Amino acid sequence: MLEERLVTLSTPPPSSSASPEANSTVLEIWGGKPLSGQVRVSGAKNAALAIMAGGLLCSGDCRIRNVPSLVDVRRMGAVLRSLGVKLQASGDTIDIDARHIGTERAPYELVSQLRASFFVVGPLVARLGEASVPLPGGCAIGARPVDLHVRGLQAMGADVQIEHGVVRARVPGGRLKGANIYLDYPSVGATETLMMAATLADGETTIENAAQEPEVADLADFCRSMGANISGAGTKTIVIDGVPRLGDTDYAIIPDRIEAGTFLVAAAITRSSLDLYPVIPSHLAAAISKLEAIGMRFTHPGSRTLRITPANGIKAVDIETLPYPGFPTDMQAQFMALLAIADGSSTITETVFENRLRHVAELNRMGANIKVKGNVAIVRGVPFLSGAPVSATDLRASAALVLAGLAAEGKTTISGLQHLDRGYENLEDKLRGIGAKLERVPAVEV
Ligand code: EPZ
Repeated sequence: MLEERLVTLSTPPPSSSASPEANSTVLEIWGGKPLSGQVRVSGAKNAALAIMAGGLLCSGDCRIRNVPSLVDVRRMGAVLRSLGVKLQASGDTIDIDARHIGTERAPYELVSQLRASFFVVGPLVARLGEASVPLPGGCAIGARPVDLHVRGLQAMGADVQIEHGVVRARVPGGRLKGANIYLDYPSVGATETLMMAATLADGETTIENAAQEPEVADLADFCRSMGANISGAGTKTIVIDGVPRLGDTDYAIIPDRIEAGTFLVAAAITRSSLDLYPVIPSHLAAAISKLEAIGMRFTHPGSRTLRITPANGIKAVDIETLPYPGFPTDMQAQFMALLAIADGSSTITETVFENRLRHVAELNRMGANIKVKGNVAIVRGVPFLSGAPVSATDLRASAALVLAGLAAEGKTTISGLQHLDRGYENLEDKLRGIGAKLERVPAVEV
């Protein structure tokens, strides 16, 4: 049995960036400070959320390590507990006991706070033969439909109805059947939902045009560590041969490539040299390639350590976001902040989400010269940015504003910190640790 742990899901200490008063505080950043030293990269948020949902597949002891301390992780923990699953956390380790799942119904008030809650659908249908999960709904960056998830489950024999904003899936006979599924779009979430569902299905499932993101491969490795039979994860074709039961595991999550990429841009935008650890360079190939074209140099002083060094200036480059291994959409806003002070003009084309250019207006408030035409941002480099009060609109936009603030002349004040706290563990402490001057202060009542 899981040893009882005294520590429940810990709330972050007040100084951490996951402060519960996120919407009543602002982040003040004094720009122009060079950075130096080493940054410890946390576990990958987008792997952690899927893998936590995957813990529902486990009928034994499920221990997950290197879990980042984030608002979204705590929200996923709350969703699992609402399903009657036991969950204990101590530091970066979470123990899940899903031997008994109390209900197939996930509550709206929790799912509406975390889109990734929808990942519980696949494991619930696989374990219980049914699931009732509210539609996650859209968010700032797009409508975020789940039609590919639904169609895949239907192909595996689930009867799926959407009534009053709730996705209700039931499997006549109780067990999903293996199927051949072609995804119209290499959706990360749909690939993960269907791969998890298929692990306990009767027969073989093939997912064609699957997402190839490292977080998909990490989820597959996690499922395999419990006894799942999966091959091809990380490529366009994944084959899963269903097994009756998944058992004990003790699994460590991969490092967060998007957090790492965000710190690489922090180095580039302040013309600093930084070491990042741990990093899996192949997960960052597109971002590293673009940073080399911009004028940064990379070395590997140790295994899983990546050193970035400024070479000469910041050159303009063009970027188009694409499914992995293309340039990641989750790095688009951060690179826009960097290209805002490049020598020359860049174009940034966002092809993955339909509304992920909302940081343009805020960067322009800081003196950037960016115009949007459809899903293309034309970024004319300016010599410098100026600190200003700005407001974050979504998770990666908030990271972009922090990066702009690090480079800007004067003080930048960022509101909307609830977005930042969702996806970056102790960002302020990590930045202070490499020389940045920033502080979270109470918002001024106006
Ligand atoms: C995951 O979201 C990530 N989130 C996102 O990270 C990331 O930006 C995205 O993948 C793309 O890499 C998590 O893993 C928790 P998708 P997901 O399904 O799974 C359309 C961050 O900042 N689509 O690959 O929701 C969809 O509308 C977040 O960390 C359908 O049309 O992304 C979008 O245009 C943001 N129907 C495109 O596919 C579906 O059924 C990509 O979405 C599913 C998706």
